[in-house]
Amino acid sequence: MAQQTETGTEAFRGAGVTGNRISARIAAVSPSATLAVDAKAKALQAQGESVIGFGAGEPDFPTPDAVVAAAEAACHDPRNHRYSPTAGLPELREAIADKTRRDSGLDVAASQVLVTNGGKQAVANAFAALCDPGDEVLVPAPYWTTYPESIALAGGIPVVVGTDSASGFRVTVEQLEAARTSYTKVLLFVSPSNPTGAVYPKGEIEAIGRWAAGHGIWVVTDEIYEHLVYGDAEFHSMPVVVPEVADRCIVVNGVAKTYAMTGWRVGWMLGPSDVITAATNLQSHETSNVANVSQRAALAAVSGDLEAVAMMRAAFDRRRRLIHRLLNGIDGIECLLPEGAFYAFPSVSGLYGRSFRGRTCATSDELAELAIEEAKVAVVPGEAFGSPGYFRLSYALGDEDLVEGVSRLADLFSGG
Ligand SMILES: Cc1ncc(COP(=O)(O)O)c(C=O)c1O
Repeated sequence: MAQQTETGTEAFRGAGVTGNRISARIAAVSPSATLAVDAKAKALQAQGESVIGFGAGEPDFPTPDAVVAAAEAACHDPRNHRYSPTAGLPELREAIADKTRRDSGLDVAASQVLVTNGGKQAVANAFAALCDPGDEVLVPAPYWTTYPESIALAGGIPVVVGTDSASGFRVTVEQLEAARTSYTKVLLFVSPSNPTGAVYPKGEIEAIGRWAAGHGIWVVTDEIYEHLVYGDAEFHSMPVVVPEVADRCIVVNGVAKTYAMTGWRVGWMLGPSDVITAATNLQSHETSNVANVSQRAALAAVSGDLEAVAMMRAAFDRRRRLIHRLLNGIDGIECLLPEGAFYAFPSVSGLYGRSFRGRTCATSDELAELAIEEAKVAVVPGEAFGSPGYFRLSYALGDEDLVEGVSRLADLFSGG
């Protein structure tokens, strides 16, 4: 086989050093910091410690009964014991198209839907389908930890555009324009945001969408928290607000957050037919169809009503006001009122340089370490989201735990 031609071995030979046990591309991937914090909290709990976990990004509610019942029935149907089309069960793709029309007003055909293993696979597929080596992707920070990794794995270059609490963690057209180069291919957009809870007003979405369309820049817009908006905040879908972006736009979504279905692993991507075909080809070699029982559960979820999410939204709304008030009661911590999703993202840099239980911290990473070790409270430091100086606290946990956890932080950071 040493005589392979240019279309054989040589064509596949990259710049790799054959002595490496792990490829350079995969060795560069960091573990998910949010999952690591959650794992640490669960490990301490398993040792009998009373840990309060603000780390996990998942609703504490069970999946609605009707969804579980549909999955149960699906287990007994032999059709679900077999491979099914990579792009998803036809009835689920149809139901996702209908649900999208109902919820965001975006008109898509079932053929423009690819069902994925969670929103995470939709993110990975989207960047794999769009990025050539060296293409730049604008990523507003604070960002969800997975985005830069998926971009880099796809050969793209994540270009981080920083925001802070002064701007409500919302990026502006001026900032995006300053970061744009001739290599800019994609803008990553997410509203409501993980990790900040920021929700972009319609006018800002319109301005950003027009800017992207005007420069022929693709938009990958993550709408997984579409139903979790509070107060006066409203969700708007960019390709609906700015129809000109639709031909270069991929929407990422899923059932995880809306229906308390994180463990079922069903998400989807919507986009122009050529992108969906390309991503389906990729997925056909990587994971094939999403588990049929999970797809049947997702079908029950998206074709049902939104009663369960209304109940969860009311609970999250109460908790966001509670956590906002409690965190702002701690000297050295400042928190904006989150407008969406289920995360608070307070600034903790006011705690730097002060001594707590004999330890002094200079970074949010060190403060998060102190919180888990001394107060048994798990939070994710801002470093994980490209924004040091902050903590992310998920308030998708029970009210009592929420109060207990923030009280422990208050106790720790008041020198107690
Ligand atoms: C912004 C955002 N997008 C996508 C996802 C992916 O969710 P899943 O893969 O569980 O559907 C998450 C999960 O935390 C998220 O926060």
